[in-house]
Amino acid sequence: MENHQAGMSTLVKGLHHVTLCPGAAQEDIDFFTGVMGQRLVKQTVLMDGSIPVYHFYYGNAAAEVGSIATTFPYSRRRGRVGSGQVSAISYAVPIGTLRFWSGHFDRAGVDHSGILERFGGRYIRVRHPAGLLLEVVEDAGDTRHPWTTGAISADVATRGFFAAVLSVRDVCEQETFLTEALGFRKIGVDGPYHRLEIPGSGRARVIDLLHEPDRAGGSWGFGAGTVHHLALNVETDEALLRQKAIYEELGFTDASELKDRYYFHSLYVRSPGGVLIECTSNVPGGFYQDESFEELGTKLHLPPWYEDQREAIVAMLEPVVVPDAGRPSGGATRIVRPPDPPALSPVVFSRTKPRFTGR
Ligand SMILES: [Fe+2]
Repeated sequence: MENHQAGMSTLVKGLHHVTLCPGAAQEDIDFFTGVMGQRLVKQTVLMDGSIPVYHFYYGNAAAEVGSIATTFPYSRRRGRVGSGQVSAISYAVPIGTLRFWSGHFDRAGVDHSGILERFGGRYIRVRHPAGLLLEVVEDAGDTRHPWTTGAISADVATRGFFAAVLSVRDVCEQETFLTEALGFRKIGVDGPYHRLEIPGSGRARVIDLLHEPDRAGGSWGFGAGTVHHLALNVETDEALLRQKAIYEELGFTDASELKDRYYFHSLYVRSPGGVLIECTSNVPGGFYQDESFEELGTKLHLPPWYEDQREAIVAMLEPVVVPDAGRPSGGATRIVRPPDPPALSPVVFSRTKPRFTGR
């Protein structure tokens, strides 16, 4: 009997990445690297549609699964913030570091909440210049590899994701989806927050549902100031196929085809609360297919099947400057790249190849 028939999927290991739509590209790079202290680990382009849009990946020093925020700088259009969206992404930071982060956010001149608490954990919520909300949450014993900058040392830096916060008008259906289709379990309620987690001992396993019954729905498409989707790690192509079967077994017939995103493979489904949920499998080489550990994020890479249109694509993108803080130094280069996943199974993945002709 398949696990899902007992409502116990065990395919999902935790968060893989979260994808946001900021506005201007340079403003986004400056915020994620300078304010949040992330490493820019990849510059590429959005692989849907025919208008070139950057796709930036930010992560910890080792560019680990579960630490990656990706952004589509989408200044062409504003999104509408509301329920049915990821409302915040949370980074784990060491216990006792929120005083640093509060002062750091003040010095950077960004809006933040001051110290708050939910489920007994202290956190600060901070606003990206495009309006997106991020959090730093104190969490003990997180040994993932922090990226460091001149202003953010290893003893305070973010480790990777702790959680994602989803705003929903109704908790019940979203909770049922997360537990039955994806293997989360409910672990508590604190005011309007309902916490679910993937069982296990790894990091980045938490989703908090924020119950906002009176909040109007947010936009689902690309639009500055909104989170587009969150992605969960199922690790292998075989698991991705099994996840698609689970969705279909439960009646989620609108699960997408399996897509080749070059750095990983993807499957999308619109969840009952409105949030677009992706599952991903890792591919051999991952982020290291087109650049070395030291070079990660330092120049624009296109998927190979876009290369013949590089000139047209680059001409339509705004120039950006990657800060020196994006280059590895000190202890960071001692980090070993993650092991490759098993060889590909004989699965057909779809690729988009539009013609880029202009805005
Ligand atoms: Fe994604």
